[in-house]
Amino acid sequence: MRFQPGVAFIFLTKLNPMKATKKVITLDEFIFQKEKDFPFATGELSGLLRDIGFAAKIVNREVNKAGLVDILGTTGANNVTGDEVKKLDIFANEQFISALQVSGECCGVASEEMDDYLPINTEASKNAKYVVTLDPLDGSSNIDVNVAIGTIFSIYRRQSFFGPCTMEDFLQRGSRQVAAGYIIYGSSTMMVYTTGNGVSGFTLDPSIGEFCLSHADIKMPEGGKIYSVNQGNFLKFEQPVKEYITYCQSEDKASNRPYSLRYIGSLVGDIHRNLLYGGIFMYPSTRSAMKGKLRLLYECFPMAFIVEQAGGKASDGHRRILDIEPNELHQRSPIYMGSKTMVEKVEEYMKQARITESIPAASATVTA
Ligand code: AHG
Ligand code: MN
Ligand code: MN
Repeated sequence: MRFQPGVAFIFLTKLNPMKATKKVITLDEFIFQKEKDFPFATGELSGLLRDIGFAAKIVNREVNKAGLVDILGTTGANNVTGDEVKKLDIFANEQFISALQVSGECCGVASEEMDDYLPINTEASKNAKYVVTLDPLDGSSNIDVNVAIGTIFSIYRRQSFFGPCTMEDFLQRGSRQVAAGYIIYGSSTMMVYTTGNGVSGFTLDPSIGEFCLSHADIKMPEGGKIYSVNQGNFLKFEQPVKEYITYCQSEDKASNRPYSLRYIGSLVGDIHRNLLYGGIFMYPSTRSAMKGKLRLLYECFPMAFIVEQAGGKASDGHRRILDIEPNELHQRSPIYMGSKTMVEKVEEYMKQARITESIPAASATVTA
């Protein structure tokens, strides 16, 4: 039997272990196959995705050791081997950045963990066409309590023509993403990504160290019965958001209400669940944070791209998230995303409130 590189086989028959019954497609193999579908593809985007997948495995290894931190040494101190124990979000940031620095396909990175973007000016990347934005570790408040956390990334084609990357390369509207994805470090580790042609999910098989295609062409249900929001902030939400939440809680057999409230506090975890089961995720503006909490470049854009590619919707309450033109790296936005009909419903409440108060849509929208 000839094994192709990057292709693993599952042996389902105990009696005849040499009888391969199912071919498992690894992430690398899948990326390679997809590249072949585009005759003019140069392989650069594929290389970038593979490098991100590789960095994810290293971060996954450290995430899995998070509970041992008190044994191996607390963050900030030196561990038993004398190395400084880094906070996981800093470690993840460094891992992804160094993978991108050596990849040769990326000319700059912007990360939630850094004030400014980082140009990559290595010899290998002098012709690089892409920039990457990162939330290296999302849901960091959940690290120490063994709850799902993640990494989120976006890839854009650079806008500047030559030399070091510039701010305009990063301040592109979300609809210009060429790829986006997340890694969820949960009960199993998965990488889910899109290049604008559907969404694919890969589960890490730790025994072979490979991400294997487990969720082909993910489509989220058009409706759902899960709503995800930090309801502790209820009193601080705008009136139409309060009304929509009350709608979710009200009894109505025909529309399966009341819905179930599920909120992990890790965006990646909440979106991953809703992507598979259907549901809406909301991080609205509050009285104390008029622009909401989540960041456009690192959280809203990539997740909105994935949700749309899976058949869902992502809105700031008034307009499509992916149409927002960012004007700063760490810009925030309120966000409502998930199953199409649920997002449309919350938009309806927002629209009705605008009509009642005679506010034009443009001034109701918080942009910066
Ligand atoms: P991060 O850990 O990258 O700072 O992101 C945390 C985010 C997001 O993952 C989550 O949806 C949200 O914060 C939770 O915020 P609240 O605790 O305010 O609900
Ligand atoms: Mn985050
Ligand atoms: Mn983060």
